[in-house]
Amino acid sequence: MSDLVQIVYVSRSTFTAMPAELGIEPSVARILAQSRINNARRGLVGALYFGDGCFFQCLEGRAEDVDRLYAALLRDPRHSDLQVLVRRPIERTSFATWAMKYVPLDAEMKALLRELGLSSFDPYRFDEATVARVLDLLGRGRDLDPMPAAAERTPATAEATPRSAAARVPWVIPAVIAAVIVAAAVIAAAMGAFA
Ligand SMILES: Cc1cc2nc3c(=O)[nH]c(=O)nc-3n(C[C@H](O)[C@H](O)[C@H](O)COP(=O)(O)O)c2cc1C
Repeated sequence: MSDLVQIVYVSRSTFTAMPAELGIEPSVARILAQSRINNARRGLVGALYFGDGCFFQCLEGRAEDVDRLYAALLRDPRHSDLQVLVRRPIERTSFATWAMKYVPLDAEMKALLRELGLSSFDPYRFDEATVARVLDLLGRGRDLDPMPAAAERTPATAEATPRSAAARVPWVIPAVIAAVIVAAAVIAAAMGAFA
């Protein structure tokens, strides 16, 4: 018998999220980047959803690894009010192809919330059937790479690049000075010839 388990838990972010229209929330991007590396190493898979200040996460893998991560999640100050909605043994993982998935609040989720009569993403009110539907939606949703958003957040990097490139090429400044001296000498010689 396999010792694989699936847990689904929900929590509330302790940070104030920026409006979803502005793209992936930087704090969530950092969690995703960290999770992708850690989970791949531990053989964990799953999906993370973030909307209206609430997280909905599914984690699958060996019971020991899932429980160890959940213990770490309980201590993580970036969220609170953790509540496990599902913990069940599974024969095989359902999110097998990636380590962690992030799906923004998209049209399909909005349609599901409307159907459930919910005006916002409030996973604390989800029953078993709704959890199954959200998992299905996450399984079909497209995966977002958090890195482009991380790059967008740092326009200062683009501004700093030319300066740091010049600093990395030590011959640029002497070459410019030499060019100015040569030009001055040529001009002086030309003026001498016409005098
Ligand atoms: C909502 C949320 C989801 C998280 N999901 C994961 C996860 O899937 N995998 C993971 O390793 N860390 C996850 N973390 C981070 C962990 O709480 C913890 O900070 C991390 O595992 C410690 O990693 P480290 O041992 O590399 O410092 C999550 C944090 C939050 C707030």
